[in-house]
Amino acid sequence: MQYRAFLQQDGVVPKSLVVGCGAYLPENVVTNDELAQRIDTSDAWIRKRTGIRQRHIAADGELTSDLAAAACRPALEAADIDVGDVDLIVLATSTPDNTFPATATRVQAMLGIKQAVAFDVQAVCSGFVYALSVADNMVRLGQSNTALVIGAEVFSRILDWKDRGTCVLFGDGAGALVLRSGMSEAGSSGRGILSTHLFADGSHYDSLYADGGPGTTGRAGFLRMAGQEVYRHAVHNMAKAVEIALEANELTLPDIDLLVPHQANMRIIESIARRLAVENDKVVITVGEQANTSAATIPLALNHAMENGRITQGDLVALTALGGGFTWGSSLIRW
Ligand code: ACO
Repeated sequence: MQYRAFLQQDGVVPKSLVVGCGAYLPENVVTNDELAQRIDTSDAWIRKRTGIRQRHIAADGELTSDLAAAACRPALEAADIDVGDVDLIVLATSTPDNTFPATATRVQAMLGIKQAVAFDVQAVCSGFVYALSVADNMVRLGQSNTALVIGAEVFSRILDWKDRGTCVLFGDGAGALVLRSGMSEAGSSGRGILSTHLFADGSHYDSLYADGGPGTTGRAGFLRMAGQEVYRHAVHNMAKAVEIALEANELTLPDIDLLVPHQANMRIIESIARRLAVENDKVVITVGEQANTSAATIPLALNHAMENGRITQGDLVALTALGGGFTWGSSLIRW
């Protein structure tokens, strides 16, 4: 892949523009009441603690690549972009089809994309913000002109369905954004991705992890979580990451038109919004219907907001997420 030299122009800089958005949720919906028939839980407990009412679960044989490709098709259509123009695919997932090759390469083949760079990014629930950061940097440096950034997961396959403390929290799904390189007004008023900020603190490795899986431990793994530990860090770090992004762009909290936090839990989302003093009608919430789809929650929420007319060109959209590791991050996008 070649670097493309950008011509220096007064007042404009290369930026990644978001030109399309798409999503896919598996058909099968499992309600809290249905779960309560299988494990010792109740709709009331799950709703009160998490806000979750239902989740989508992938069908037997439906893989992360299937979900990802199904999210990319409407995204490309919305962007009015030919698949032949896509030269970069970055797929955020912690549930790849296989240990290798990257699930992104299977998505490439499924979409019929001939010439592209394709790889996966693994940062669990902050995976989409990590993937967006990598893609944005490649686009701005001229390594890519048209990029697909995907978050896709089948977390239902790595849940211990006997552990009621975790299995009720997650669902399956995928979302995708299409980025295009463009010259945009410098500063925070110009359209495009304004910034991405990424963080990690591996000392919390044991707070949220899979005890096996496609790794070197040699056994199939399940998700394990210290719920209250995750809760504390999620609220603090996700809110802080937004504050850092605003400061870096010389913006303030009232400038945010839409806050799109990772959808882990209603109480976490409400606490973040309260701490940032962002009004409820500026926060996208999908966790009730979709549960936590890990790396897919943010693009799914963006797509939901687009479908409901909640984003218009020129809006300032703030993304923030935290996941296992811990990893976390934020992004500001002038839509
Ligand atoms: N149904 C009924 N009872 C349950 C269930 C359930 N599904 N799960 C746990 N309980 C019981 C426990 O056994 C316990 O019972 P006990 O008091 O008799 O021992 C009781 O409920 C309280 O359990 P806690 O684990 O202390 O419950 P808590 O109030 O902490 O809520 C929760 C658990 C919802 C997971 C909370 O810790 C939380 O929101 N954590 C954030 C974690 C999160 O959302 N993670 C998602 C992945 S990470 C991410 O995406 C950032």
